[in-house]
Amino acid sequence: MKEKVEQLKTEATAALAAAKDAAELEALEIKYLGRKGEMAALMQGMAGLSSSERPAMGKLANEVKVAVERALSERKKEIEAEKLGAIATSEWIDLTAPGARPPKGHVHLVTDAVSAITEIFSRLGFTRVRYPEVEWDWYAFEALNMPKDHPARDEWETFFMDAPEDPKLGKMVLTPHTSSGQVREMKKGKLPIRMINISKTYRRQSDVTHVPMFHQFEGLMIDKGVAVTHLKGVLDHFAREFFGPERKTRLRPFHFRFTEPSFEIDISCDLCGGTGLIGGTKCRVCKEGWLELGGAGMVHPNVLKAGGVDPEKWSGFAFGWGVERTMMMREGVKIDDIRHLYRNDFRFLSQF
Ligand code: PHE
Repeated sequence: MKEKVEQLKTEATAALAAAKDAAELEALEIKYLGRKGEMAALMQGMAGLSSSERPAMGKLANEVKVAVERALSERKKEIEAEKLGAIATSEWIDLTAPGARPPKGHVHLVTDAVSAITEIFSRLGFTRVRYPEVEWDWYAFEALNMPKDHPARDEWETFFMDAPEDPKLGKMVLTPHTSSGQVREMKKGKLPIRMINISKTYRRQSDVTHVPMFHQFEGLMIDKGVAVTHLKGVLDHFAREFFGPERKTRLRPFHFRFTEPSFEIDISCDLCGGTGLIGGTKCRVCKEGWLELGGAGMVHPNVLKAGGVDPEKWSGFAFGWGVERTMMMREGVKIDDIRHLYRNDFRFLSQF
């Protein structure tokens, strides 16, 4: 019996001293000191002893119990202290260390381009305006010399709004091009006009060079004696300012219902250096060395009439370009898919 008691003492104190954490310590406490634990069993065993043996054994058992309880409370204190120590280390602060800089954003590439475009034209006396993202059929097409059911409308791959028709202005659409702003501007009734309308436009399209929502900038100049040379001069000036003196633009004869004569304007592609080839394969953005940026021309007399401007007295030019494409052709930008701009992928956006 005596050996058994001594053995329990050695075993219990060693186990308690080696407990790793509070949970293990608690389990050991239950094992040795619990109601059904080993100490309790020992005390019960005492009942079977003779009265001559009992006092000495009782004393010994008591000593063991005190020793085990002490071992328990000592280890408990140690574990507490270890925990506090860990917190103190992890929360240690060096007050002299320099602060962490919060990440700083920048305006989106397109916003940046819109500001640059606005600025270049404002120096030529063009005033920035914006027209709505939803438009009436009349402003988008009819006033621009495209009567109802005219096949030329197909080019604009229009989204129609699920809204009641206006008896005079027709269906409601998502603005398919900024040209609808031409007649809106004329209707203000103030001449001469030098406007630059930069707004969102929508078409049913999505590929390397198209997104369903994009921006256009539309220039309109109406004055007395405005000619194609003025148009060419303004566009060349813009190209030099925006793209630098190295790049080339070209006017290609084209057809729009709302300008006569009409042109498309191309710029030599920055991705392939105007060669149409990158490392022997076709440039995926321009395919031929030139990228179309938009259209232009002399405002058609019917459009002037729709805006209440007398074509016998006044003439004007207009141009409409895509902001995203223009920006992509900026030197060194090298974006090979227009859709990247609106994927909101930080890895892409933070490169600029
Ligand atoms: N609105 C035409 C387009 O979206 C571009 C254009 C504008 C053409 C002004 C001529 C004059 O394609």
